[in-house]
Amino acid sequence: MSSAAPHGPVTTRREGDVTLILVDSPPVNALSQAVRAGLLEAVKAAAADAGVKAIVLACEGRTFIAGADIREFGKPPLAPGLSEVLSAIESCAKPVVAAIHGTALGGGFEVALSCHGRIADKGAAVGLPEVKLGIIPGAGGTQRTPRLAGPVAALEMISSGKPVKAAQAKAMGLLDSVASGDLRAEAITLARALSGKPLRRTGELAVPAFDHAAFNKVAATVIGKARGQLSPVRAVEAVRLATTTAIGEGLAAERAIFTELVGSDQAKALRYAFFSEREVQRVPHLEGVSPRKVETVGVIGAGTMGAGIAVSLLDAGLRVTVVETSTAAVGAGWDRIAGLYARALKSGRIDEAGKDERLSRLTVSEDFGDLAGCDLVIEAAFEEMGVKKEIFGRLGAVAQAVAVLATNTSYLDVNEIAQASGRPADVIGLHFFSPANIMRLVEVVEGAASAPDAVATGVALARRLGKLPVTCGVCDGFVGNRILATWRQITDFALEDGALPAEVDAALEGYGMAMGPFAVADLAGLDIGAARRKRLAPTRDPKARYGGTVADRLCALGRFGQKTGAGYYRYVDGKRQVDPEVTAIVQSVSAELGRPREPFDPDRLVRQVRAAMANEGAKILAEKIVPRALDIDMVLLHGYGFPAWRGGPMFEADLVGLPTILADMREIHAAFGHGWEPAELLVELAGSGGSFGSHQRSG
Ligand code: 3HC
Repeated sequence: MSSAAPHGPVTTRREGDVTLILVDSPPVNALSQAVRAGLLEAVKAAAADAGVKAIVLACEGRTFIAGADIREFGKPPLAPGLSEVLSAIESCAKPVVAAIHGTALGGGFEVALSCHGRIADKGAAVGLPEVKLGIIPGAGGTQRTPRLAGPVAALEMISSGKPVKAAQAKAMGLLDSVASGDLRAEAITLARALSGKPLRRTGELAVPAFDHAAFNKVAATVIGKARGQLSPVRAVEAVRLATTTAIGEGLAAERAIFTELVGSDQAKALRYAFFSEREVQRVPHLEGVSPRKVETVGVIGAGTMGAGIAVSLLDAGLRVTVVETSTAAVGAGWDRIAGLYARALKSGRIDEAGKDERLSRLTVSEDFGDLAGCDLVIEAAFEEMGVKKEIFGRLGAVAQAVAVLATNTSYLDVNEIAQASGRPADVIGLHFFSPANIMRLVEVVEGAASAPDAVATGVALARRLGKLPVTCGVCDGFVGNRILATWRQITDFALEDGALPAEVDAALEGYGMAMGPFAVADLAGLDIGAARRKRLAPTRDPKARYGGTVADRLCALGRFGQKTGAGYYRYVDGKRQVDPEVTAIVQSVSAELGRPREPFDPDRLVRQVRAAMANEGAKILAEKIVPRALDIDMVLLHGYGFPAWRGGPMFEADLVGLPTILADMREIHAAFGHGWEPAELLVELAGSGGSFGSHQRSG
């Protein structure tokens, strides 16, 4: 018999002497107020029903409870609180068993932890991802997990936020069993078996003995890697408390930290990043446009980029034809792709059969005509307009009429490339980031003549590869490289004005960037920037300050970065070291340019970089290269190592206040002169009390 509980998303059903409580709150059964109230009511009702011996808690839809309802954060709390629901479950005199399918995350896993038994589907996973939202588990996760899995494993799980698969969770002591057949039937059997026996309440268990040195080591690593992010550091504090205090005290302390963090700017930024990551994939003007069918993809060029793209396509189950220009290049291309799979095999990411199956879908050929049957072709050849135009001329003639033709150019004009194909409506940009089989971001570039369904095909393909597509229009460097080029100039100026590469890198790593700009330049190769400076030289504004002298000097010495063992740093056994030769070059460039070397002010640099990013972003918005500020933020977060806990340059600018950013830009303009004027949109929004977040492209 099925009976609706008073609260809609939670219903109950009797299976003989067991009550099955079912949560059905699409899409992910988040713990909204209605779900919390329904759960509390259902547990109380089953506890009071003399005919009920045990309770099973399960979910409808694609997953077990995926956590607290993030949309309720930052709003006044609504009763009942999650802790009240969990304490009703844990203290229930009848066994409550969680039947987990999909993912039990955050508050969802905390619900399961408060149950007396936990059983999961083979494919399920459990986790406490709160740190990724700038908070810590707020309903016992940091106190109950160590009691089941031990403090060291609990700390690793909570501070990383990474979910663990069912089998591992069972091995860690977090699950009683992994279902071999029907999850709910097995959960009911387990619940009946627990009935009448003393109940194992997680909160009442003693924390098992543990290796204190190992705990301290994990804690030190977490704190060392946090780089300004608060939540992992506070997670360490909370888990440590579980090892020193009684459960009640631990729960209260955990709650206090949770409450403090949930209102913080970092948590706001990470919530914004979470929702923007989803929103960015909804491209307003492409809504309702159907993508073209893609099963076979061509890749032109099997260099580092082409090979990475091919691996990404093969991993997604597509057939791939890679074309190279000579027999030797075909062999080298095959080896490069096979090499990437050999590495994946070694790390355990795939098995031998998986590797063979993927390679069975790969053809590497010298014959351009082999691209004729492809549904989509990605050109990843040398970054030079002449080369690209020649390729697209041939491609326009060879590719089947329905094919989408994509260029992986990082900077070049997609419209010019499209014209060369003779069929510009089929041409788009698909800008992957290196290493292309790992990095999530893909800029999907919409040319002036690109057909909407060609663009939609690019978006759909990127999603199929598990990547994050951000759609944008044509401009030099698109969104990411254009913003990078702007703020990198500020760091180049800093060298000429008194800083050294290591000081600049330390300042920006302190700001939270994954790697400082000069370390990145060494990794990517200084030849990339040199090629861009050369390309832009004829159109460079002679009145604008040029910051490339140090880089030019390094390139002239053959210091192209890590690949040559030296760039802004020198590399010994792969480790970067400050190089006195570079210090001397930097100092002599300042002298030659007549620039006095002032003491370096890291805070000032960070303010300048922040303002320069937002200013360029404002121009990108005004030029309608992207429709929303969140598109820009997602590019920076997912392709450029911008700290997620700052939300992105546009979000941060709104948070800091646009009048402050404008004042910083005016200071930059005064310092660096022509070309550094505040963007009109920044001036307008700062003056009108507006924000980037509320500015949306019209038309
Ligand atoms: N609250 C509110 N909305 C949520 C949500 C949540 N916890 N989790 C997902 N959603 C929404 C998404 O925004 C999306 O909405 P949209 O369709 O309008 O864009 C929709 O649900 C579907 O989400 P996904 O597109 O991400 O679906 P997937 O199937 O790809 O992934 C998932 C499912 C793995 C559950 C993923 O959504 C996820 O990781 N969610 C967040 C889980 C999480 O962080 N939980 C912890 C919350 S904090 C907490 O519990 C605090 C506690 O300790 C007190």
